[in-house]
Amino acid sequence: MSGATMSREGYFAPREGRVLCIAHRGARSVAPENTILAAQRGLEEGADLWELDVQLTADGHLVVVHDDTLERTTDVASRPEYAGRAPWRVRDFTLDEVRGLDAGGWYQAADPFGVVASGGVTADDLALFPGLRIPTLDEALAFTADHGWRVNVEIKDMAANGPGYPGDEAVTRAVLECIRAHGLTERVLLSSFRHAYLRHAAAMEPALALAALVEDVRPDDPMALCRDLGVVAYHPGGDIVTEADVAALRAMGVAVNVWTVNEEADMRRFLDWGVDGLITDVPLLCWGVLRERGQGA
Ligand code: G3P
Ligand code: CA
Repeated sequence: MSGATMSREGYFAPREGRVLCIAHRGARSVAPENTILAAQRGLEEGADLWELDVQLTADGHLVVVHDDTLERTTDVASRPEYAGRAPWRVRDFTLDEVRGLDAGGWYQAADPFGVVASGGVTADDLALFPGLRIPTLDEALAFTADHGWRVNVEIKDMAANGPGYPGDEAVTRAVLECIRAHGLTERVLLSSFRHAYLRHAAAMEPALALAALVEDVRPDDPMALCRDLGVVAYHPGGDIVTEADVAALRAMGVAVNVWTVNEEADMRRFLDWGVDGLITDVPLLCWGVLRERGQGA
């Protein structure tokens, strides 16, 4: 299905019991998150699409990074030239500065999923990590297009970035322009916790598939929220979704993709509930479960 032309509503159809395996920040359990290598590993591990996080640099470029600071996933804190710039917010760094950071060397010592200690990544793979760069959205979408793949682009909430920072509409427009430039309108699922971005996207690009992200607290009425936003998908954290929500949303034609599902028992439980997609750090495990159940896309 990944190579087919799809309408906005068709992003998840025909389902026929098939469920999407979505590689969270790429296959971040086996490669540094939100890098092209992590995307490559997600593709190799059988994911139907990958998920990435996008933010703006100080000079207005879209870059793929999760945290609002660069400390956790780059070497910025050990770079003498940036010693006076803590907390190293993405919004305070130019694209050139961001691109000069090492976005992979941190992984081996941090070993966030224990795969270095367990031998779950090879020495050859580990040798690829130091020197990885934070991708631009342009590069991430080029990779997606080149592989006939799909991607869930999550726009991070940048509204707190203060006076002079581009507003919601400008941020959304920049993301949409990049998506259009790569001819990926039918292959992108756009999501955000900041629903204002989704409203702007719906107005500017009606053909784009949108997903409402929610976390921490279950909305009073997820169905009303999705109807109001006009989204084709609902992305709840696994702790706040209920079986009844899944049934009600699917009955109204809204797909449910749950994050972040890394344990096999949780995957099976959500699949039993009838979800449409699993957003996971371990796509290989997810792919195996889906294949075994005959639910692989
Ligand atoms: O899109 C699902 C998930 O990525 C949202 O949370 O913090 O991992 O970006 P976070
Ligand atoms: Ca994300």
